[in-house]
Amino acid sequence: MQLAVLTLFPQMFAAITEHGVTGRAVRESKLTLTPVNPRDFTTDRHGTVDDRPFGGGPGMVMKIEPLAKALASAKSIVGEDALVVYLTPQGEPLTQGLVDELAQRSNVVLIAGRYEGIDERFIEAEVHREISIGDYVLSGGELPAMVLIDAMARKLPGVLGHQDSATQDSFSGELDNLLDCPHYTRPVEYAGRHVPDVLLSGNHEAIRRWRLKQALGRTWQRRPELLQARRAAGLCKEEDALLAEYIEEHSTDKSNTE
Ligand SMILES: C[S@@+](CC[C@H](N)C(=O)[O-])C[C@H]1O[C@@H](n2cnc3c(N)ncnc32)[C@H](O)[C@@H]1O
Repeated sequence: MQLAVLTLFPQMFAAITEHGVTGRAVRESKLTLTPVNPRDFTTDRHGTVDDRPFGGGPGMVMKIEPLAKALASAKSIVGEDALVVYLTPQGEPLTQGLVDELAQRSNVVLIAGRYEGIDERFIEAEVHREISIGDYVLSGGELPAMVLIDAMARKLPGVLGHQDSATQDSFSGELDNLLDCPHYTRPVEYAGRHVPDVLLSGNHEAIRRWRLKQALGRTWQRRPELLQARRAAGLCKEEDALLAEYIEEHSTDKSNTE
């Protein structure tokens, strides 16, 4: 996957290109990430990328011209047919489904805004998708872009090692619309708290059932709306039975009214 990101702070992206799973993906050329700085495309000696908003008010707005030149440069690197994504609190919410969809693309240009955002005409003319990472406002689009890149990188073939991919993640695969089960490692006892016996039993079928039951139960307790979506797609008999068991065992928990 070839990515370019329009950003006034290219150095921030070392956080993902030099570390962890995403760093490995970059080193193994499964992912290329090229930051392009609109400031490099300015013509005045101050390198001006922003200006006061028409109509007045606080803050500044990112100017079109440096962004347009930076986008042309980015497309010359990753491809003219690249999907152009603007990270903005006003965009469609980022979900695992959207991540999975975008991870199918071979070339994407991400735009990280700053100040009050970018000139609306640039969005109208150039942006294909607007994406939000949540209903809160950050100072810039760099962290949202990195969130999206990390999530997409995990979905690229061969990026997760065997150990990572063996893990079932929330929202994915068998855990579509479910939260993951709890995880434990050594020691078996910590401050009087024990690892559930079943996980020490060596009984793989019992462990599978316990994990599925916890995933269903946790989702019921913490994210009932996700469970509704899972139910709409149809719970199998085993899942129905395990969830009923979990609810029975936790029936004193009045926090969940379902
Ligand atoms: C201070 S914000 C601008 C917020 C904008 N005035 C608004 O209220 O919608 C600056 C930049 O941060 C990024 N940003 C902030 N919060 C975000 C979020 N929740 N999701 C995606 N991008 C965000 C966007 O790129 C935005 O242009």
